[in-house]
Amino acid sequence: MTDSSDPTEPIAEATESAADSPGTTAGTTEMAADVSETAADVSETAADSSDSTAAPKETTVDFTRIGVDGDTVADVVSVLEGGRYVKGPVLERFEDRFAERAGVDHAVGVSSGTAALLLALRAGGVEAGDDVFVPGHTFFATASPVLALGAEPRFVDVDPDTYTMDPDALAEAVDGAANPAAVIPVHIYGGMADMGAIRGIADEHDLFVLEDACQAHFASRDGETAGAAGDVGAFSFYPSKNMTVAGDGGMVTTDDADLAERMREFRNHGRGDDGVHASLGLNYRLDETSAAVGLGQLAKVDRWNENRNLAAGRYTERLAGISEVRTPTEPENGHHVYHLYVIEVPERDALREHLAERGIETGIHYDTALHEHPAIAERVGDVDLPRSERLVDRIVSLPMHPAISESDVEYVARTIAEFYR
Ligand SMILES: Cc1ncc(COP(=O)(O)O)c(C=O)c1O
Repeated sequence: MTDSSDPTEPIAEATESAADSPGTTAGTTEMAADVSETAADVSETAADSSDSTAAPKETTVDFTRIGVDGDTVADVVSVLEGGRYVKGPVLERFEDRFAERAGVDHAVGVSSGTAALLLALRAGGVEAGDDVFVPGHTFFATASPVLALGAEPRFVDVDPDTYTMDPDALAEAVDGAANPAAVIPVHIYGGMADMGAIRGIADEHDLFVLEDACQAHFASRDGETAGAAGDVGAFSFYPSKNMTVAGDGGMVTTDDADLAERMREFRNHGRGDDGVHASLGLNYRLDETSAAVGLGQLAKVDRWNENRNLAAGRYTERLAGISEVRTPTEPENGHHVYHLYVIEVPERDALREHLAERGIETGIHYDTALHEHPAIAERVGDVDLPRSERLVDRIVSLPMHPAISESDVEYVARTIAEFYR
């Protein structure tokens, strides 16, 4: 591979005919050697944010692969040479194309997925003392913006099959709440929550619906696309996501022009088109260089998602015969984009060690239920969510990225089978 190669280009063909040994799998990694340095750097940062990835002695199957292609590098250079680094035309183009792909009227680029969630809640009128419903199984950042606004996160247990917010549990939680104001369904791992049922409850109680689509770029279910099935959708472009801006970045999507306007103002010091700071905003802008990378990634993300889906199908097929392993459930009538491929297993930590010793990186997403993080627990006190609490000891995320080869998937599945034999 040269510097200008696309690190996430499928490499299955090159290795499909390869022998089954781990040594051959290592050859796959060698092919991607020119990008693995970047990937290694970024996966360290990934561990700081939402991921906890094991560090095997000698990696032969990467957990993820991160990088940009030569065209994108050229696009970034062109922005750098042009001298316009913020509030420029590249961001506008990125927003327009993202809105078009998501099937919404407006998209607003922001500095991270966390900022996207915060701006959306602010624009949706969520205030101190309001109740905001969040699932018990997700990354910390689904709840931190709620707490930052002084609102009250109300935790809802997840569906045992899809790990997304259980609508029946939501209905119960809303009935028992004093100031129900908003709900944040999370499309965890790339599979959409049951938005039809959740919206039904939200409509009944006049809740603002904010989709946390940070892991689900263009997943779909029941004919709806992630980010277009609520009042606002929030996306992350963190490096390990299905598409990135080669740094931190995010996007909010909506059909509502007023909400879009409020989010645009809030990301830019509360300043309107007339130059007046009529509301109190901060700086949550997305840079032109980031937008240039995002545009390049957007053009490819559907193909990458197809590859992820294909790899997931292979995993599920290969793991089907291992009775200890519970493979992911795809929502009926939907397209799962497999940001992560997560299985449930007994003896999870011993299995991870077994895999790490054989060069297979894994992760845990997440090892703590949302309400049990100390920073949240001290604010909300005792919360009982048996399904979310049980999950965290049983889940393990297997290597997943658009370029994972068939032989790598087979090697991982075989190594898992060997552990339970
Ligand atoms: C479900 C979920 N919500 C929110 C976020 C926050 O996104 P960011 O890291 O871009 O702030 C992430 C990403 O880490 C996420 O996975």
